Amino acid sequence: MAQQKFPEGFYWGAATASYQVEGGIENCDWAKAAREGKVPVCGAACEHYTRYEQDFDIAKSLGHNCHRLSVEWARIEPEEGKFDEREIEHYREVLRALRERGLEPFITLWHFTLPLWFSESGGFERKDAPTIFARYCAYVVERLGEQCAHYATINEPLSFTSNGWRRGTWPPFERWPLIKYAGVSSHTNILGMRPPARGKNVLRYFSVLKTLTRAHNAAHDAIKMIAPQAEVGIVHQILFFHANNNPLNQFLAWFMNWHWTYSFMDKVVEKCDVIGVNYYLHNKFGDTAVYDKTDMGWDVYPEGLEEALLMLARYNKPLYVSEAGVADAKDRIRGDYITRLVAAMGRALARGADVRGFMYWSLLDNYEWAFGFMKRFGLVEIDYETQKRTIRASAFVYKKIIEQNGMLE
Ligand code: BGC
Repeated sequence: MAQQKFPEGFYWGAATASYQVEGGIENCDWAKAAREGKVPVCGAACEHYTRYEQDFDIAKSLGHNCHRLSVEWARIEPEEGKFDEREIEHYREVLRALRERGLEPFITLWHFTLPLWFSESGGFERKDAPTIFARYCAYVVERLGEQCAHYATINEPLSFTSNGWRRGTWPPFERWPLIKYAGVSSHTNILGMRPPARGKNVLRYFSVLKTLTRAHNAAHDAIKMIAPQAEVGIVHQILFFHANNNPLNQFLAWFMNWHWTYSFMDKVVEKCDVIGVNYYLHNKFGDTAVYDKTDMGWDVYPEGLEEALLMLARYNKPLYVSEAGVADAKDRIRGDYITRLVAAMGRALARGADVRGFMYWSLLDNYEWAFGFMKRFGLVEIDYETQKRTIRASAFVYKKIIEQNGMLE
């Protein structure tokens, strides 16, 4: 395997998201959908809201020097325009706990779940959604002040829109007709949600996407007004489309990369100081190769991270791998998968991508959206009965890579 040393000061860590780990969030669209039996119940999750110090102790013991987390919009703005200062204080404590342990915080302001008042009144189909979102983002950054330097506005706008308005597996459960012929399947719903398909959802999908570009741009400007020094970016999941030599397949791959990545990123990139790259999936048209599968049923193909990073390197912004990881309950392939991810990242660096950090998804096993708790991405195993944390062997493989700043054996 190629030897690759990463730049000094490279960030190594792991990521989580508030709803997936904190527990006790009941006033958001996902909790409501769970009460209606449309998605699995999240409930106490990993109780990370109260156990964060213990969890950050583990991250520190594993050599991490950064951590990506999200703050929960529904906690901070439980009613429209009314902000809860106690929740801000909670997140201040969380940031303090990270800093005390030498973990640089990276905050995502919104990671999929919406406050109920917002989703019930139309969510990102509201005309004033960009203003509402920008107001919330600016409030958080202003209150958290000097304690965090790195912010992402939106996590994976395309996954949010695609699962919510195209495939109908996530709130608000809207589906396109004939979607099985037009969708890349990443997140199914174990409860079998199959809402009726409606033609107008095609328009709604594109309209929400457009609103999200405006929401990001407005949030960026609002944050910069009050905290010009803050680093503001967006987190995009690359679905890496490639093809065999067949020209039709190559056209399909080009078109899908344009739709999924460039047509969106082109509209927000001017308002990005940095870009967060999430990578899990590739789709090679005309491929005959047989891949090992993760517990999600996804191809084991960590090598795709190299091209994923190069796809975004064209924007000449610093990049972070804000998520990449594998569902692997038995910890059969995770160590090797991480090693191959780091090698792929090293190759992207060597080819000119300005990569500044890597955050494995996830620090902890957690609520994997419409799959519930059955999929296990964690470096740390969670026993949901007892909340016991057990560090998996692969976490030590990652620790060794970190200690060598990316040098692989
Ligand atoms: C999301 C995470 C999710 C992970 C694994 C990403 O799309 O940001 O919330 O758990 O993928 O599916």
